[in-house]
Amino acid sequence: KPVLVLNGPNLNMLGKRQPEIYGRETLADVESLCRAEAKRLGLAVEFAQSNHEGVLVDRIQAAREDNSGIVINAGAYTHTSVALLDALNAAELPAIEVHLSNIYKRESFRHHSYISPAAVGVIAGLGTQGYLLALQALARLLAR
Ligand code: DQA
Repeated sequence: KPVLVLNGPNLNMLGKRQPEIYGRETLADVESLCRAEAKRLGLAVEFAQSNHEGVLVDRIQAAREDNSGIVINAGAYTHTSVALLDALNAAELPAIEVHLSNIYKRESFRHHSYISPAAVGVIAGLGTQGYLLALQALARLLAR
């Protein structure tokens, strides 16, 4: 089953949105980097993005059947959403939480993540490379 790379609100704006924080690469660039890394790792991968919390919950619920693991950048819902935490716990799949920016260097409201307790690990501050590191981690977790 493919690994799901799931992006939350405003990540469709990547490349245009506050490039000094999030960089100039677009979400399409992230997807092609992930596809290349997944190929190298022998992983199948699929992508989804939504600005809507309930759509993200629906996608995580579907992942329980359709996917073997999740890489998730929940955007601002990271800092607000018990629903995403519950969905990830219910999915019973290995999940890696990714943030492009170092959320601990930023406003204090970004320092807390509701979803981290459902993640195997968290990667923050390494830009788009974080997604590739997350795929590497999942490849190892799924191989054992
Ligand atoms: C983010 C960090 C969040 O605080 C922010 O709301 C985002 C992106 C990141 O990738 O650095 O939308 O998850």
